[in-house]
Amino acid sequence: MLVRLLYASFPVGSSTAGLVESILASCRTNNPSLGITGVLCYSEPSFMQVLEGGRAAVNTLYGQILRDQRHQDVTLLHYEEITERWFGGWTMGHVNLERINPSVLLKYCELPELRPTAMSGATAMALLNDLFASASIVGRT
Ligand SMILES: Cc1cc2nc3c(=O)[nH]c(=O)nc-3n(C[C@H](O)[C@H](O)[C@H](O)COP(=O)(O)O)c2cc1C
Repeated sequence: MLVRLLYASFPVGSSTAGLVESILASCRTNNPSLGITGVLCYSEPSFMQVLEGGRAAVNTLYGQILRDQRHQDVTLLHYEEITERWFGGWTMGHVNLERINPSVLLKYCELPELRPTAMSGATAMALLNDLFASASIVGRT
C-alpha cells in the first residue's frame, strides 16, 4: 500500500547549503531500508519535499521531519494513495534550480519563482512531474 506525501517548509537559520547536504546524507543513510523515495527541492526561502513509500513508513518519517528543529512552518500540501511511484529511482532526488527553465515555473506559478505555499497541492505535484519529465531532478544516492 503506497502513498505520496508533499509538504513545504522554511529552513531555520542562514546556512542552508550545509543543511541541505546534511538532510541528503540522512536520506542516503535511512531511506533505502525504509523503502522511501522522493525529491527534495530547496529554493530560497523554502523547502518542498515529496515522500513516496509504504503508508506506515511515510507517515512515521513525516512525523520525524515535523519535529526537526532545523525547519519551521511545515505545511502539508498533498497526500494520496498511489498505485505506482513517480520517483522510484531516487533515494532522494535533489532539484537543481539552476537547471529549471523559468518557463516551466511560469506555467504553474504567478512569478518565475518557486513558492510552494502559494500553490495548490495539485499544482505543486504537476510542477514536480514537469521537472521530472524535463530532467531537472538530479539523483543523489
Ligand atoms: C526538509 C527536511 C527533509 C528531511 N527528509 C528526510 C528524509 O527524507 N529521510 C530522513 O531519514 N531524514 C530526513 N530529514 C531528517 C529527519 O528530520 C531526521 O533528522 C533524521 O531522519 C534523523 O536520522 P539521522 O540521525 O540518521 O540523520 C529531513 C529533514 C528536513 C529538515
